[in-house]
Amino acid sequence: MKTTILIVDDEPGVRQALSGVLRDEGYAVEAVASGEACLDRMTRGGIDLIVLDVWLPGMDGLATLSRLRERQVDAQVVLISGHGNIESAVRAIKLGAFDFVEKPLSIEKTVLVIRNALNQRRLEAENRALRARVDRRQTMVGESYAMRQLREQVAMAAPTNGRVLIYGENGTGKDLVARTVHALSRRRNGPFVEVNCAAIPEELIESELFGHVRGAFTGAVADRRGKFETADGGTIFLDEIGDMSVKTQAKVLRVLQEHTVEAVGGHAPLRIDTRVLAATNKELPAEIRAGRFREDLYFRLNVIPVFVPPLRERQEDIPMLADHFMAEFAREYGRRIKTFEPAAIAVLRGYPWPGNVRELRNVIERLMIMVPGERILAADLAFLDASALARPGPPSAPAGRPTLHEARDSFERALILRTLAEQQGNMSRTAEVLGVERSNLYRKMKAFGIAPARRLEGEEESV
Ligand SMILES: Nc1ncnc2c1ncn2[C@@H]1O[C@H](COP(=O)(O)OP(=O)(O)O)[C@@H](O)[C@H]1O
Ligand SMILES: [Mg+2]
Repeated sequence: MKTTILIVDDEPGVRQALSGVLRDEGYAVEAVASGEACLDRMTRGGIDLIVLDVWLPGMDGLATLSRLRERQVDAQVVLISGHGNIESAVRAIKLGAFDFVEKPLSIEKTVLVIRNALNQRRLEAENRALRARVDRRQTMVGESYAMRQLREQVAMAAPTNGRVLIYGENGTGKDLVARTVHALSRRRNGPFVEVNCAAIPEELIESELFGHVRGAFTGAVADRRGKFETADGGTIFLDEIGDMSVKTQAKVLRVLQEHTVEAVGGHAPLRIDTRVLAATNKELPAEIRAGRFREDLYFRLNVIPVFVPPLRERQEDIPMLADHFMAEFAREYGRRIKTFEPAAIAVLRGYPWPGNVRELRNVIERLMIMVPGERILAADLAFLDASALARPGPPSAPAGRPTLHEARDSFERALILRTLAEQQGNMSRTAEVLGVERSNLYRKMKAFGIAPARRLEGEEESV
């Protein structure tokens, strides 16, 4: 759509000349002769910038400007002031005009001021859109017991500066948790630097994490800062840490112990202040037993464990998440929101979501694109992989057979979470239903990284 400018001037000569110049510049131009006509035109929208004369019969330029502001019209305003009338120009700026040009009008000056005003407006709009997008992306949606609990754990962990190890299957929201921890911490204005340890080839990971000096190896043509250093004063997020080689683990451990990094080929260790968050979809205790993960690193990273439950364990969140993503894609594609028929919601709730929230998000995007009407029917979801419906467990379960101990832990943890959910977080009733002492339940929860619910009920807090 063309940028549209409205000229408000009572002199036909000025309207005509200015319209011609601005059309030549590629703008769409409309013109009116009074403040009243300007206000009237603005009710219909579609104007990006107003060129407003100060001297107008009837309602003058400044009065028109303050009316526009009262109505929160977001068009940019450039004022034309009489020669030497600085006082009203200053008042106009205070009222929110972008700038003013003096009569007699210099074409160049006028075009330049208009261009700058439009640029600023565009930047502001982009900024707002970006911020809104970031905010939306950073909301952990869901009101299930498991989700409220997760948000609470995140809120407690965030301000502590402690290391957080985030567990969860693929697509459960581990990235989102890490970003939220950073956003709620005192480091929120510092950098958030993400490193996907599984995606970087082994030969490059050390240089990526710690940097290198020029000439350290073939191809190192210049000094390069590592991610730990880039994240100084902020947070580094080591994603898929379970895939890091044992050799690199040893180096990371040193950084955690000594709070210094040494670039590949460098000599002087550099002190850094970087908070470390890590995430994995692997069962690290099993990796440790298999000799693939260092136990000492595990203990260093696991200061605050956070478990992100799979989507199938919090089915009640599915409708809310579906709506959330629907709104996101409607905005992104500039389309209207589609609503789900109850039968479609039932299908979404019944599906086991092996790819968790990420898969749900992809499905909603697909529906936004593929479904022509404004209602989504159960039949529109026929493409959901029926074989997954029959699959009993998580498909991303670690390769190989779990030990009896692991299997029992994972079953117990799921059972406790489910019972807590059923009992709305009430510890005493949960303990009763499970047939254990309350203190015993507490110990188990602590071992499994399940934080007790707070403020949900009037229960006493003692252990
Ligand atoms: N509770 C949630 N509320 C809103 N969006 C979520 C939630 N959990 C995950 N998402 C979204 O789902 C997608 C996958 O999440 P992500 O954090 O990348 O998962 P993981 O890192 O565990 O694989 C992302 O687009 C993320 O924003
Ligand atoms: Mg991730």
